[in-house]
Amino acid sequence: MPFPFDPNIARASTIPARLYVDPVYLELERERIFAHTWQLVGRLDQVRESGMFFTAEIGSDSIVVLRDGDTLRGFHNVCLHRAGPVAHGCGKRQTLQCKYHGWTYTLAGELLHAPEMEGVERFTPQDMRLRSVSISTWGPLVFANLDGNAPPLGDMLEDIPRRVEPFACESMRYVMRKEYELACNWKVYVDNYLEGYHIPVVHPALHKEIDYDAYRVEPYRYSSIQHAPLRPLPAGVTDRRYDPAAADVPEAVYGWVFPNLMLNVYMGQMQTNVVVPVAHDRTVVVFEWYASRPPADPATDPAWARLVEFSDEIQDEDVEICEAVQRNLRSRVYDRGRYSVKREQGVHHFHSLLHEFLT
Ligand code: FES
Ligand SMILES: [Fe+2]
Repeated sequence: MPFPFDPNIARASTIPARLYVDPVYLELERERIFAHTWQLVGRLDQVRESGMFFTAEIGSDSIVVLRDGDTLRGFHNVCLHRAGPVAHGCGKRQTLQCKYHGWTYTLAGELLHAPEMEGVERFTPQDMRLRSVSISTWGPLVFANLDGNAPPLGDMLEDIPRRVEPFACESMRYVMRKEYELACNWKVYVDNYLEGYHIPVVHPALHKEIDYDAYRVEPYRYSSIQHAPLRPLPAGVTDRRYDPAAADVPEAVYGWVFPNLMLNVYMGQMQTNVVVPVAHDRTVVVFEWYASRPPADPATDPAWARLVEFSDEIQDEDVEICEAVQRNLRSRVYDRGRYSVKREQGVHHFHSLLHEFLT
């Protein structure tokens, strides 16, 4: 299982191809990475009133997040009786009732009522509670961590909140959601996200919008930030997608949090991307958009439609290259490559975290 990895990017080779094509690694990643890191699972507006709840999945673990008065709580969505689900979808209730035999729990997770259990020995409902999950929030986002001993969310977000402060993400409002399914390993998508090296070849239109020479990657401990100043608009040019003069902040900040969260902030909006592995060679990427001045109706707002259309165009280009790379990672002649010291520090940083968590 272990693989060699050099912490010095100038000497390092990329991680072995088998990590992308052998299903055994996904199990290992779920166990050692996804079960110990903060996962973006929902939005604060889904739990704004006491009793409101939503369910989510982290790997093969189903959880429920709810508001109990002023407190946000998270539980494994697994009944203590015979593992039925205690919540479905989202909604608002004052107790959680299992969908199987009706055991009922308080919003604090205590077993309130277990019908027809008279005569059962060493059974004390008042001592029984749903297994809890850690919950934390940043701005409009709700995170969960299956590991009760994990470091706090702030330790994983590191410098991102400070760096995006000028954009006022914390007060942005939810606009819409979109899911993309890709035939590649989740790490192929993350690798691709973590460098701007492919922009000139894969994204010619995006290349026109940002100042590629000034593009920077800043790796931290568990996160990294890519910084792309918008290219100034020369006089007479009108066909640009991003207009730096119209933006409150004339740059794009692409934050990434290990292992699978991206926060893209530019042009008065924040886009969260959660990269969800569904199989070793299938990935769903969930995009959610937030905006400081949300359109009344995103479906009919022309400026909003242009932003989404451009985002889709970039996404299509990434999907195509990621799927081609996944096919080639199975090639009999490829195992490991090298990194550009100038452009691929973010990828090397991700791989060093994979190495740390997996070996
Ligand atoms: S499994 Fe929940 S009540 Fe039986
Ligand atoms: Fe890309």
